[in-house]
Amino acid sequence: MKQIAVIGAGTMGNGIAHIFAMHGYKVSLCDVDEEALDRAMETIKNNLWRMVAKEKITEDHQQDSLSKITTYTQIPEAVKNADLVIEAASEKEATKIKIFEILDEHAPADCILASNTSSISITKIAAATNRPDKVIGMHFMNPVPIMKLVEIIRGYKTSDETSKIIHDTTVAIKKTPIQVNDYPGFIANRILMPMINEAIYTLYQGVAGVKEIDGIMKLGMAHPMGPLELADFIGLDVCKSILDVLHDGFKEAKYAPCPLLVNMVLAGDLGKKSGKGFYDYSEHKRAEVVAESFS
Ligand SMILES: NC(=O)c1ccc[n+]([C@@H]2O[C@H](COP(=O)([O-])OP(=O)(O)OC[C@H]3O[C@@H](n4cnc5c(N)ncnc54)[C@H](O)[C@@H]3O)[C@@H](O)[C@H]2O)c1
Repeated sequence: MKQIAVIGAGTMGNGIAHIFAMHGYKVSLCDVDEEALDRAMETIKNNLWRMVAKEKITEDHQQDSLSKITTYTQIPEAVKNADLVIEAASEKEATKIKIFEILDEHAPADCILASNTSSISITKIAAATNRPDKVIGMHFMNPVPIMKLVEIIRGYKTSDETSKIIHDTTVAIKKTPIQVNDYPGFIANRILMPMINEAIYTLYQGVAGVKEIDGIMKLGMAHPMGPLELADFIGLDVCKSILDVLHDGFKEAKYAPCPLLVNMVLAGDLGKKSGKGFYDYSEHKRAEVVAESFS
C-alpha cells in the first residue's frame, strides 16, 4: 500500500487523508465540489499545525504530510494508480453505488475499494462492482485524527486476503481495527443509536430534561458526552437515517426513530451543524440547553 485515494473531502474525508499522509502514504483527495477540497486542505493544515503546537509532530513532518496530498475533482484521474480507495462521500445509497461503479471501471484491477459508510450495506455496494471480494467497510470514527477505532466490515463476499491487508494497513496508520460482519448498523451504530433513541424517548416522555439525561449518563456511566449532546454532534438527521436503516433492515419496532427526533429533523434542528438541536450552539449560547420545553 503506497497510494491511497479518498473520495469525498468532507468531515471524514479530510481526516482520513490527514492520517494517511501523516503516516507516509501518497494521498489523492477527490471531491466533486472544489470548495470542499479547499476547505479540506485548510482543515488538514490547521489540524496538523495543532499537532505541531502540541509537539506531537515536527514542522518538517507537517510540511511533508501536506505535500503528500494532491486534490482532484474527477474520480477516474484520482484513482488511476491507487492501491486502496476509501470512499467517504455523502451517505446516500445511490451516490455510493454510482461511485463504486466508476471506481470499479477506473481503479487498477488489484486495488481494494473501501467505504466509510455508517450504515449502508457493504454487500450491496460490493454487488455494484466486478470485484466484491475486494470491497470492504472501513468505518472511521469522528474526529478521525483522534479516534483510535476503525470498525472493519466484511461484506458477504469480502475475501480473507482483503480483510488481512486492510487490518494491516489500519495498524500501519496507528489505528485499532476491529472486524465485524455486514448486518444493519454493523456494531457501533447498532448499539449506539438505540441508546440515543432511548435517551430522546425519555426526554419526549418527560422523564427528565436534557441536562439531567446527559448528566446521568456522563456521571453515572463515565461517558465523555451525554447521548443527547452526542446526537447533536453526530447530526440528528444522520441519527434518524441510521435508525431508519436498522428499522428497515430488522423490521423491529424497537428501532423506530422517536417522534421527537423525527419532528426535530423535519423542523431543521439538526444539532451542532444547524446551530440548534437539544442544545443551542449559536455564538452567545454555546451548548446551552434548549430542548427542556419538550418535556
Ligand atoms: N460525520 C461523521 O461523524 C461520520 C462518522 C463515521 C462515518 N461517516 C460516514 O462518512 C461518509 C462521509 O460523511 P461526512 O460526514 O464526511 O460527510 P460530508 O457531508 O461532510 O462530506 C461528504 C463529501 O462528499 C462529497 N461528495 C458527494 N458526492 C460525491 C461524489 N460523487 N464524488 C466525490 N465526492 C462527493 C461532497 O461534496 C462532500 O464534500 C458518510 O458515508 C458517513 O456516513 C460519517
